[in-house]
Amino acid sequence: MKIAVLNERDPLESRVSATPESVKKFLALGAEMAVEAGAGDTAGVSDGEYSEAGATVGDRAAVIENADVIFCVRGPDPDELASAKQGVRLIGALDPFNRRETIDAYAKAGVEALAMEFMPRITRAQSMDILSSQSNLAGYKAVLDAAGEYGRAFPMMMTAAGTVTAARCFVMGVGVAGLQAIATARRLGAQVSATDVRAATKEQIESLGAKPIFVEEVEGIEGEGTGGYATEMSEEYQKAQAELVSSHIAKQDIVITTALIPGRPAPRLISDEQLASMRPGSVIVDLAVEQGGNVEGAVAGETVERHGVKIVGNRNVAGRLAADASALFARNLYNFLSAFWDEEAKAPVLPEDDEIVQGVTLTKGGQIVNERLTAN
Ligand code: NAI
Repeated sequence: MKIAVLNERDPLESRVSATPESVKKFLALGAEMAVEAGAGDTAGVSDGEYSEAGATVGDRAAVIENADVIFCVRGPDPDELASAKQGVRLIGALDPFNRRETIDAYAKAGVEALAMEFMPRITRAQSMDILSSQSNLAGYKAVLDAAGEYGRAFPMMMTAAGTVTAARCFVMGVGVAGLQAIATARRLGAQVSATDVRAATKEQIESLGAKPIFVEEVEGIEGEGTGGYATEMSEEYQKAQAELVSSHIAKQDIVITTALIPGRPAPRLISDEQLASMRPGSVIVDLAVEQGGNVEGAVAGETVERHGVKIVGNRNVAGRLAADASALFARNLYNFLSAFWDEEAKAPVLPEDDEIVQGVTLTKGGQIVNERLTAN
């Protein structure tokens, strides 16, 4: 049972899918680990550390050769897998909705592709959930990025020269990233408020000491679809939300937006007009920028200024904390495969009727088998 760990080719990717810690754990299960040279460079792990942990380190071809499982963060070019074993399992953040052609090509090449972002939201799978582990770090980093761009302080400070007022921070979208953003902004001393479409988040916002800002009295709002995810909201709701945001946002110094709807473009939460109502020098961080953005005018990979307001659109925000993000990602992969480990065979056995296996498996036997893809 050989597991290959790829060096990410995308210059935007700083993370790595295994760490010396996860290498040791897989070796203890009886697997063989082969890490591509340089894989951990941008995440603060040297080739030597992988070797010390017991992995072999080699070039891409050597690592892929005879591998039963290939770990990656972003899915590699399908051509690169031409020399891989038939039926090799490719496991990573394969971005199935945006990279459908690549997934089709994996199927054609006989690769069994497993997308970790399709992990079902059930208790048993919590420790395997990359969206959750990476969003947590992204929520934290978004607040630090905002603080870095903001020309004022976050906490109230009483100094001999006079008082500095606390920053007002508004978090839009209170999933995993939003909750961490609230907690981080509170720790920095900001006055925090937050909103979401899922009614269940109201209590969570309050429990973190922030103020909930919610649309009330619009009929039929639950906002929660399957698996704890948000649904697209009615026009009536969107209008009420826009009005509420307009009155609130003009008084905010920092806004962090995190709103996502799986498989759909990110909902637009802030218009250019609303942006113009904010005080110059305010900062917005759009964590949904890679999915189309919550903020009008946000540009992926750039910080732009409109009406004196900075809009930060960093890509791969979790990757800006590459060492921690890799450690959590690697643990998610370990927790997934080890849960299905057959001790005698010293290999994972993935039952086709298991909810987790069905959730993440995209391709098998040359076909697309995932209903979230076949339904589209
Ligand atoms: P997400 O990343 O898909 O979306 C971020 C947030 O944006 C969500 O809270 C969503 O409700 C909100 N949103 C969507 N449209 C919006 C709009 N128009 N206006 C305002 N907010 C909007 O969500 P995430 O972070 O992945 O978490 C969603 C839920 O799933 C959470 O309750 C979380 O605790 C739960 N979860 C459960 C797991 C498990 O049981 N294994 C693992 C991870 C998350």
